[in-house]
Amino acid sequence: MDGRVVAPTSAGDDEERLQTSLRPRGLAEFIGQDLQRRRLSIALEAARQRREPLDHLLLSGPPGLGKTTLAHIVANEMRGKLITTSGPALERAYDLMGMLTRLDAGDVFFIDEIHRLPRVVEEYIYPAMEDFKVDFVIDKGPYAQAVPLPVQPFTLVGATTRKGLLSSPLRERFGLNFELDFYGVADLTLIVRRSAGLLNVLLDEAAATEIARRARGTPRIANRLLRRVRDYAQVHDVRDVNASLVNDALELEGVDGVGLDDLDRRYLKTLIAQERAAGVGTLAAAMQQEPDTLEDVVEPYLLYEGFIQRTSGGRLPTPRAFAHLGVRPPGRQSAQQPLPLDSAK
Ligand SMILES: Nc1ncnc2c1ncn2[C@@H]1O[C@H](COP(=O)(O)OP(=O)(O)OP(=O)(O)O)[C@@H](O)[C@H]1O
Ligand SMILES: [Mg+2]
Repeated sequence: MDGRVVAPTSAGDDEERLQTSLRPRGLAEFIGQDLQRRRLSIALEAARQRREPLDHLLLSGPPGLGKTTLAHIVANEMRGKLITTSGPALERAYDLMGMLTRLDAGDVFFIDEIHRLPRVVEEYIYPAMEDFKVDFVIDKGPYAQAVPLPVQPFTLVGATTRKGLLSSPLRERFGLNFELDFYGVADLTLIVRRSAGLLNVLLDEAAATEIARRARGTPRIANRLLRRVRDYAQVHDVRDVNASLVNDALELEGVDGVGLDDLDRRYLKTLIAQERAAGVGTLAAAMQQEPDTLEDVVEPYLLYEGFIQRTSGGRLPTPRAFAHLGVRPPGRQSAQQPLPLDSAK
């Protein structure tokens, strides 16, 4: 995609292999998201006791937080196979029916990007989710006949970065509905240490925390930054990685102490230059970026970290944004509020 080291989205096959090798296999290995983990653990245990499949599970949240990982974990914990597809891949109802009727009891059917499932296909999922059957329609027009075909009891796991785009009938058919949120620095530090162990990187606690702090609340980014740090250490012939080496390695990548890169800083500068609330379209045009890119991969973290706020009139920079860029907020006298990095813009 855009080649940003702090992009929350996957950077292609090579990276996917690394990330997959670092993926926790069981729920016990899954770090963070405590509330969701506890809820899932109870639901899994109850389903196993009843010898039934787990309720259908909807996972939503920004990219790279562990939705696909959790789908794999559910299949492992339920001792079923994971059959993976995605919303846009299921173009015709026929594709869906073929996959559903081939499932074995207890399998997990994972639909990634479920918000992109075509509506015509979506309707065929309802009876499968509710009654474990699909209606196979023969003939057309007045002679059309629906022949119900059985589907083995299965669990549908849907993942989406845009829960708001799901139709409400589909959303309501999920018994379990988990929203994943950005990870705190403490949990990300644990994730970095676990991954470092698997990759044979020796790093101390402060170094792990330093990577975690810059990972934008996202395990996928934490793993990617760790890889950059590993390369840097190897080339500089350093065996024990400390915080200062992490700093040097990630500064080279343009990632600052709170995980913002050029694109984020450009976004904040553009917003500040508007001198009032601005819509994402305006900002995208000024930055020559796609509005979707800003909305999906730039704004969520800036909002979460309190660099910007959403108002009815658009986005506004917060005092933290001004402070971070060293720009004086409007309406402040410099004599009263001296700032160290005052930029005379
Ligand atoms: N809780 C966690 N503990 C440890 N590692 C994790 C955790 N969550 C995610 N990861 C790591 O982050 C990587 C990315 O997670 P995953 O692929 O599950 O994200 P996703 O939510 O499916 O993202 P997308 O929306 O882009 O599909 C995983 O391969 C795994 O290595
Ligand atoms: Mg995924």
